[in-house]
Amino acid sequence: MSARQIKNVSYDFRGQVVLVTGGARGQGRSHALAFAEAGADIVIADIGAAIESVLYPLATTEELNATAAEIEALHVRCLPAVCDVRDARQVEALVDDALAHFGRIDVLINNAGIESISSLVDMGEQQWDDVVDTCLRGAFLCSKYVVPNMIERRRGKIVSTGSTSSYVGVPRNAHYVAAKHGIMGLTKSLALELAEYGINVNAVCPGGMDTPMTAGMLASRDAEWLTGLGELTGIWNLFAPEAMLQPEEISHAMLWLSSDAADFVTGTSIMVDAGFTIK
Ligand SMILES: NC(=O)c1ccc[n+]([C@@H]2O[C@H](COP(=O)([O-])OP(=O)(O)OC[C@H]3O[C@@H](n4cnc5c(N)ncnc54)[C@H](O)[C@@H]3O)[C@@H](O)[C@H]2O)c1
Repeated sequence: MSARQIKNVSYDFRGQVVLVTGGARGQGRSHALAFAEAGADIVIADIGAAIESVLYPLATTEELNATAAEIEALHVRCLPAVCDVRDARQVEALVDDALAHFGRIDVLINNAGIESISSLVDMGEQQWDDVVDTCLRGAFLCSKYVVPNMIERRRGKIVSTGSTSSYVGVPRNAHYVAAKHGIMGLTKSLALELAEYGINVNAVCPGGMDTPMTAGMLASRDAEWLTGLGELTGIWNLFAPEAMLQPEEISHAMLWLSSDAADFVTGTSIMVDAGFTIK
């Protein structure tokens, strides 16, 4: 496998191992394929089951295995793993398997996430927990179990997926906004704590994405809310109003933050939101 050139930038992740959560589809799949094209061996973890409070389907094990096959077709190794990032024992087993398989984890991409909509008063407690546990606790657990291997080798990159909701409030979305703001708190604190071991911790904050999450919500009773959000903020995308961003746009930022080129970038986030949050 040779270095990958995208948008006139070359990346070379040969000899490195990258763990991507929520890697079966959407942005996670795109990130996994981008790292694989740049020569990395890949671990993709995904839930392979539904979560009751989420109105759209999550990735299946068939999708997970299909993405693993696409990655292997790029002549790198891939370990697909069913793992619910909300569950500490499953995350611990995932990291143990990955280390038994590859001996190291160089890059952790905390990407798994879910979305659901509810006013505060109607929000079920389980609904709150499902979103916060997937989007925030999952990033905490994966970092907790991956970091000892990075500390041992005194290097590592952690990049978590935030959102425009890491910076702005959104009505009927308090759980998701709280979790995505939490990603920034986790990122800044871990960046300070892990700097002495040569570990960088950052986030990428995507705008409205063209992924199964968005498509699933648009096909559910949440469609009205999502359309209303576009109207409320007045814009999705400064470059192409009404257009969603493609997952590959986020992968570019993931690769850069995970590369040696970003060795002096830590505790920060890159907004890849086509201007959504500056409105
Ligand atoms: N879709 C958007 O507009 C948008 C915008 C900003 C940020 N994000 C964030 O980007 C990330 C990727 O989302 P996407 O748009 O690709 O959505 P997606 O639904 O297509 O992909 C998310 C993946 O995470 C997996 N997943 C969900 N819960 C999990 C769990 N508990 N354990 C393990 N895997 C789990 C899903 O099965 C799926 O494969 C998420 O963190 C999301 O919150 C999405």
